[in-house]
Amino acid sequence: MKNLVIAIDGYSSCGKSTTAKAVAATLHYAYLDTGAMYRGVTLYLLENNIPFDDLGQVEQALRHDINISFKHNSRTGRNELYLNGKTREDDIRQMRISNAVSEVSVIVQVRHAMVAQQQRMGRKRGVVMDGRDIGTTVFPDAEVKIFMTADVEVRARRRQEELAAKGEHVSLEDIIENLRKRDHIDSTRTESPLRRAADAVLLDTTHITITEQVDFVLDNVSSAL
Ligand code: C5P
Repeated sequence: MKNLVIAIDGYSSCGKSTTAKAVAATLHYAYLDTGAMYRGVTLYLLENNIPFDDLGQVEQALRHDINISFKHNSRTGRNELYLNGKTREDDIRQMRISNAVSEVSVIVQVRHAMVAQQQRMGRKRGVVMDGRDIGTTVFPDAEVKIFMTADVEVRARRRQEELAAKGEHVSLEDIIENLRKRDHIDSTRTESPLRRAADAVLLDTTHITITEQVDFVLDNVSSAL
């Protein structure tokens, strides 16, 4: 079987990571959550009081102090983000990170460092990556490109349930505001903005189940094999 790159891009909270994980498990491919990497950088900058506009300190941190990796946790069954050797998977999902991450991911130096690492991590192919710029910038030669979208209220309800399951209770209005703001910043930045690649297939998840999303992607994979 050919080892493909499957790029799943799209707006925040459309079900990209749930779909990507299931597709990777079905195909026995690696899975890379690129959003977690931007969240990890954001967590580091916040915890170390590095202002996002202090590019000297941001560059220094990227070059010498921030080490991002992933490890599978057999107890939870999750692929967890490690920042400097410590799992920070739960911390990076908090609203305080969601509220700041898009401001960090516009920083050109941050993008260059993350894109380079993602390209290294995917160089053997046989990988499903979800993010915003995988099909346009990280792997423009990906064999399968999906661009996911969904109604913002549906997305917010899903995100609200995920947060509640982890004990964080946030109003629907606050989540909708966060999603709109992130989508806006992500789509309008100059460096690798969120946009549908010309050859990406559109998938609207407003009215479909996770199983249907996964089957849709797998159908596209079959056509590419
Ligand atoms: O996917 P997730 O919602 O966790 O991503 C968090 C944020 O990371 C996005 O809103 C976006 O600002 C940034 N991101 C990015 N490029 C990617 C993945 C995520 O800019 N490839």
